[in-house]
Amino acid sequence: ERAKLLNAIIENAIDGIITIDEFGIIEHINPSALTLFGYNRDELIGKNVSVLMPQPDKARHDHYIANYRHSGHAHIIGIGREVQGQRRDGSVFPFRLGVSEVKFSDRRIFTGFIHDLSRQKEDELKIKSYT
Ligand code: HEM
Repeated sequence: ERAKLLNAIIENAIDGIITIDEFGIIEHINPSALTLFGYNRDELIGKNVSVLMPQPDKARHDHYIANYRHSGHAHIIGIGREVQGQRRDGSVFPFRLGVSEVKFSDRRIFTGFIHDLSRQKEDELKIKSYT
């Protein structure tokens, strides 16, 4: 039925999709996101999303979310931003992050859409080095 279809769409999406609760704890993560960051699902469910980013954002991300909860003022929700992710092996890569807020019943979650930019960035560097 509908829930199964939606699940299949998310599981097969090319972009990474991660949902967190309002404290930044990972609740769902699709296979694309797992591949991008180099983890198994068990290693990330229940962890803070900050494990997926380098400093200084890693240390600040809880505050980013708390600030938004208190002020309602968004810096990425509905806007998007290019940010850096950190893989399990410690390497860092650029991606386009989109975040949306989802309110359902009495709960609020955030959904992050992750579009890898490492290939484009490498191509840009190659083009620049030719000129
Ligand atoms: C806010 C970085 C992943 C949810 C922010 C801000 C930055 C950031 C820089 C805004 C700080 C500000 O200007 O006040 C990152 C980095 C990520 C990442 C580097 C790399 C993994 C995610 C993911 C989600 C998420 C996957 C959701 C599943 C949020 C929320 C906010 C936020 C809810 C506060 C609302 C807002 O500012 O619009 N993050 N983030 N972040 N991020 Fe992340």
